[in-house]
Amino acid sequence: MIQIWKTEKVIQETSDTKTIVFNPGSESFTYKAGQFINLSAKINGLTQSRSYSLSSSPGETFPAVTVKRIEGGLVSNYIHEYADTITEWTIEGPQGLFHIDAESSAQYVFIAGGSGITPIYSMVNDVLQNSAAEIFLIYTSKNIESKIFLSNLQQLEHQYKERLRIQYVLTSGQAQNTLGTSYLPERLNRLMLKKLLKTHLGEKINESQFFVCGPPGLISLSEEVFSTLQIDPIKIHKEYFQPPVVEAPTIKIPESILEVLLHVREQTTLLSIRPGTSILDSALEDKIEMSYSCKSGTCGKCVGKLLAGKVHMHHNYALNEDQLNQGYILLCQSIPLNESVEIEVG
Ligand code: FES
Repeated sequence: MIQIWKTEKVIQETSDTKTIVFNPGSESFTYKAGQFINLSAKINGLTQSRSYSLSSSPGETFPAVTVKRIEGGLVSNYIHEYADTITEWTIEGPQGLFHIDAESSAQYVFIAGGSGITPIYSMVNDVLQNSAAEIFLIYTSKNIESKIFLSNLQQLEHQYKERLRIQYVLTSGQAQNTLGTSYLPERLNRLMLKKLLKTHLGEKINESQFFVCGPPGLISLSEEVFSTLQIDPIKIHKEYFQPPVVEAPTIKIPESILEVLLHVREQTTLLSIRPGTSILDSALEDKIEMSYSCKSGTCGKCVGKLLAGKVHMHHNYALNEDQLNQGYILLCQSIPLNESVEIEVG
């Protein structure tokens, strides 16, 4: 759903991070903590859009995103330059499968790296406000100055002493203990993460839901540790803030054109897919209005449900085991492997 929102206020969080608080006016907007929206802007005459996680929590009056300036990042730099003067924003959403499910857990573990804290911050607030669950948050970043939401998190720790524990990690090696907050002054490694989880969670480790958001290295490290701790993959949720660089496994790509039956909302189309072309690209070539953003298997925006047939997904950094078992696929990464493929979107 596309909406036009106004700016409520802009908050400078760190030297390179701003929060844009929106006022949707009379538009109704509901979302789950952890989801993202797509922001569009006209830059040099062309409409550019990017996905940004909502850093506000669903209970707040105004939705917000927190945007880090990225070197060479067209949209993030534009937002940083002009956020204070932009009065109207074109947004689409909410989207994304990285969110807290309705069935609540008694214990949540969040691991955030750098600006990966943005959806996690939304979830932490949501869990604290709407449940009695306990939270263990591990928040790693380069140094204290780059820790987004640091003072807000310290306030939450104080307010919810019994339920929220935070371990800050500083990858630059900066050692500092301030106002009773302890920082681990070294890059998180396997042993350290395992020890933190075992020490803080004890027996509760088996009842916990795990959410990891950040760069690929942090996610693969967490996955290795979860595996050694024999954590059920269904309880692990992850979101990449940059796609990892990995070789796709080689598969035998069909050499002929294959047909795919695609249901998008009320419309059904029979697509003819050229060898090696993704289902998303094929649908876009047929002028079907599709949701997508990254085209790299990271954002989860192009998700569809496989109703019949077989597909191959080159990469998947957005869907968890449970979602895969339910038949969800990323259309930007999927190619059909046989003739009987049928997919539903939306
Ligand atoms: S467009 Fe982002 S995962 Fe497909």
